[in-house]
Amino acid sequence: MPTVTVLPHGFRIVVEARANLFDAIEREGRRRGLSLFPLGLCGGKLQCCQCGVVVVDGGETGLKRPYPRESELVRETGYPTGSRLTCISTVRGDVTVRLPDECERGRRPEADGDP
Ligand code: FES
Repeated sequence: MPTVTVLPHGFRIVVEARANLFDAIEREGRRRGLSLFPLGLCGGKLQCCQCGVVVVDGGETGLKRPYPRESELVRETGYPTGSRLTCISTVRGDVTVRLPDECERGRRPEADGDP
């Protein structure tokens, strides 16, 4: 089964193949008493862009390829190159991701007046 490593905390999560990346990280965070994502997420509707992570290793094989809309949003909202929105990312194999710090986290799309 694939392993998701989450930095900077360094914990590893063993997940079923095709697990949702957000669910895996959020569930493990809760189990550890950590709140890893900001409040007010849109629940996978691609409206908030606050669920992003920076892929450090294994993105090519560890995650299903991003939909064009996801790549567009990652770019438009200011995440570092190669970041993924966890709510629509599917785990396929081992992958290492890093939770972005405050300055790297994508802007909410409505924050700059864009529709
Ligand atoms: S939870 Fe809103 S875009 Fe992922």
